Amino acid sequence: MIITVIGSGYVGLVSGTCFADFGHEVICVDKAEDKIEKLKNGEIPIYEPGLEELVASNVKAGRLSFTTELAEPVCKADVVFIAVGTPSRRGDGHADLSYVYAAAEEIASSLDGFTVVVTKSTVPVGTGDEVERIIRQTNPDADFEVVSNPEFLREGAAISDFKRPDRIVVGLSSERAKAVMTEVYRPLYLNHSPLLFTSRRTSELIKYAGNAFLAMKITFINEIADLSEAVGANVQDVARGIGLDNRIGSKFLNAGPGYGGSCFPKDTLALVKTAQDNSSPVRLIETTCSINDQRKRSMSKKVAAAVGGEVRGKKIAVLGLTFKPNTDDMRDSPALSIVQALQDKGADIHAYDPEGMEAAVELMDDVTFGSNAYEIAKDAHALVIVTEWDAFRVLDFGRLKEEMASPVLVDLRNIYGKDEVEKHGFSYTCIGRPDEEI
Ligand code: UDX
Repeated sequence: MIITVIGSGYVGLVSGTCFADFGHEVICVDKAEDKIEKLKNGEIPIYEPGLEELVASNVKAGRLSFTTELAEPVCKADVVFIAVGTPSRRGDGHADLSYVYAAAEEIASSLDGFTVVVTKSTVPVGTGDEVERIIRQTNPDADFEVVSNPEFLREGAAISDFKRPDRIVVGLSSERAKAVMTEVYRPLYLNHSPLLFTSRRTSELIKYAGNAFLAMKITFINEIADLSEAVGANVQDVARGIGLDNRIGSKFLNAGPGYGGSCFPKDTLALVKTAQDNSSPVRLIETTCSINDQRKRSMSKKVAAAVGGEVRGKKIAVLGLTFKPNTDDMRDSPALSIVQALQDKGADIHAYDPEGMEAAVELMDDVTFGSNAYEIAKDAHALVIVTEWDAFRVLDFGRLKEEMASPVLVDLRNIYGKDEVEKHGFSYTCIGRPDEEI
């Protein structure tokens, strides 16, 4: 199979590389010349564990290449994946589909022979119809089918998510396209990852419904965490207690400062808009979005309570800025809202993140960045863990106590237990475990 991937961002690059690793010939196309130049030199423009090695071995094997020229790779492709960005449109929360439609128009005139055009980007229901219309309008003679094949890749675990998926969802209408997509995913299919064929619109909705459900699950356990604090229960035990019921499942029940990232905030909002436009509101998701927005800022109250009620003029050390560990992605990270809320209350913020500081410098004002936990903790009135990087799981509390103005730990990811922290003379605040003993 010859596969051309339009867009060498996170999804396009990971998918293209993994397809090449399956044995297909893959050409990744991107308009950004500097990005393609870097990729040609073996430099990976994103942080994703394992990706650099996988790109290198597939380039070496001659199965993976990069270019800014779209025409020839599209012409010879059996399958063209559209994997360009669909950011939130400014002002209304709808997904911005201009890159998807521009890609459709550009590939249309180069299509040659039967080609399956796959939307891999996260797109609202009905986008496939529009992509089909654009291609047909631009090139009425083209022999093609537009297929939906959403990605379910978690940043930091994208390669294993791609190679060992819970399922592969493919939305299409013809046997011809089905045969091609079965061939594309043959290695996974042979490994018994279920290949779910649906209509195109159904497949598009599955992606949004899946992400919205997970966002709702996190928000549910976050509210149960607040309730646990109010009634004297332990949210981690509640999560375990309900998660062992197979109908609920134990994953995505970690209470925290609210979800962030490039997908959940954007996709829940887009689903809400699509639902409203179709006069079929998804009220649970509307509520999920607003609870999560409030939650992120409200974490500043926890910090204030931990330092005696008032953060004004106090130095607060923030550990972890990315929306989750093992990524350099700061998009919609809870840290942005938490830090802003603390600054609004007059706190002096010092921060450190193992991979996210380059992006953080662009996004955060009036923050002093340090190069490790101990440096930012110096003279701080509280240390706040916002992202659960492994490196923060083994802090030297003796050293921290010597450095800090007051020994206060606010653990917004529940990575420590009360006793192990308090035995070092620290006060300890976490999420949903008021009297916990681990
Ligand atoms: C998500 C989906 O998991 C993936 O399938 C989809 O295709 C893209 O969006 P990602 O955004 O990379 O992936 O991260 P994920 O691991 O899902 O975490 C999202 C956010 O939820 C993070 O801010 C994380 O900290 C938070 N989260 C997750 C929790 O607060 N609690 C949990 O139990 C799980």
